[in-house]
Amino acid sequence: MKIHCLLKSLVTVASLSAATHGALAQDTVKVGMVMPLTGALAAAGKQVVAGARFYMSQHGDTVAGKKLELIVRDDATVFDVGKRFIQELIVNDKVNIIAGGITGDLLASAALITEAKKPTVIMLASTSTLIEKSPYFVRTSCTLAQSSAVVADWAVQQGLAKVVTFVTDFSPGHEAEATFKGRYLTAGGQIIEQIRIPLQNPDFAPFLQRARDANPQAIFAFVPSAQAGTLVKQFTERGMDKAGIKLIGPGDIADDELLPSMGDVMLGTITAHFYSAAHPSPMNKAFVAAFQKDQGVRPNFMVVSGYDGMHLIYEALRKSNGVTDGDTLVAAMRGTTWESPRGPTSIDQKGDVVHNIYMRTIEKVGGELFNIEFKTFEAVKNPQVAVQ
Ligand code: PHB
Repeated sequence: MKIHCLLKSLVTVASLSAATHGALAQDTVKVGMVMPLTGALAAAGKQVVAGARFYMSQHGDTVAGKKLELIVRDDATVFDVGKRFIQELIVNDKVNIIAGGITGDLLASAALITEAKKPTVIMLASTSTLIEKSPYFVRTSCTLAQSSAVVADWAVQQGLAKVVTFVTDFSPGHEAEATFKGRYLTAGGQIIEQIRIPLQNPDFAPFLQRARDANPQAIFAFVPSAQAGTLVKQFTERGMDKAGIKLIGPGDIADDELLPSMGDVMLGTITAHFYSAAHPSPMNKAFVAAFQKDQGVRPNFMVVSGYDGMHLIYEALRKSNGVTDGDTLVAAMRGTTWESPRGPTSIDQKGDVVHNIYMRTIEKVGGELFNIEFKTFEAVKNPQVAVQ
């Protein structure tokens, strides 16, 4: 009899705790984020995480009556590791939403994500075709094609007729190179050398020497922003700026976090991109001041991609009243329009980001280097490219 009572109360406790756990699980929305926090792209991943966390700190971690839990994993810039973490987050942690990550991780996981129907907000990857790999992909970062073509038009107009392309040897680099090349040749430019540099532990020196030997008027460069400081240092050490060779490219080489320490060699460098810390909107001014106060550094485009990615998740949960199934959330994300620190931003019906691309030149403002916007291409879609 006693044993029967004991068993009965144990069963009651167990079912009560299961019920509480179930209720808690229902009240929580889990976002599983896989980013490079170590390895070649560590700086980029950390910036996206900082942007996402900063959004949560400003807006609270409760949305549509649900508590948002952010689970962050480090893929160490290794695509297979990223895929394994995405799988574990889906299967073991039972996340509702995925926040990705680099192109390699997401290409490797697209089939898995589609099968699991997990809405996946791409907050870093910048390759155009990635968005087509799963109906559950939605992007708040950018594509390299969006910003690379307009640099070609500008270069030809400025009389830069002989260029060396200089890109990191991975899919975003190939996209920057191909888009620039297509447009530049059509506009009448001449590409005298195409150089690709390995992603892992790059030493730019021998590649820069090759570029210099080709005697170009400019180098069209895309390297991940995480490596831009080293590139500029080695470019200057070789006296390439003094030899009159211009650096041009997508904004990754003029990364806002690194720019203050790159030195005056960057003055006058022209790039095209979707975000500058000097974007002159009241919203961006407030954002930059608040982020700088909180983190001690200037926000860059990766920070904004993470910040906006989190905004999109909050908006979608608000629209869905906290319903988290993949189809509902992706439908809620598509068509969303908002004012971002980058300017007006929206998600199109394919799930891709639509935003302004700005031409910028580097100038000193208040003793610090900034990307000053001088021309705007409005609402540039993927795979549309900004052209004159
Ligand atoms: C990407 O994986 O698409 C990627 C990685 C690093 C960058 C840009 C794009 O700086």
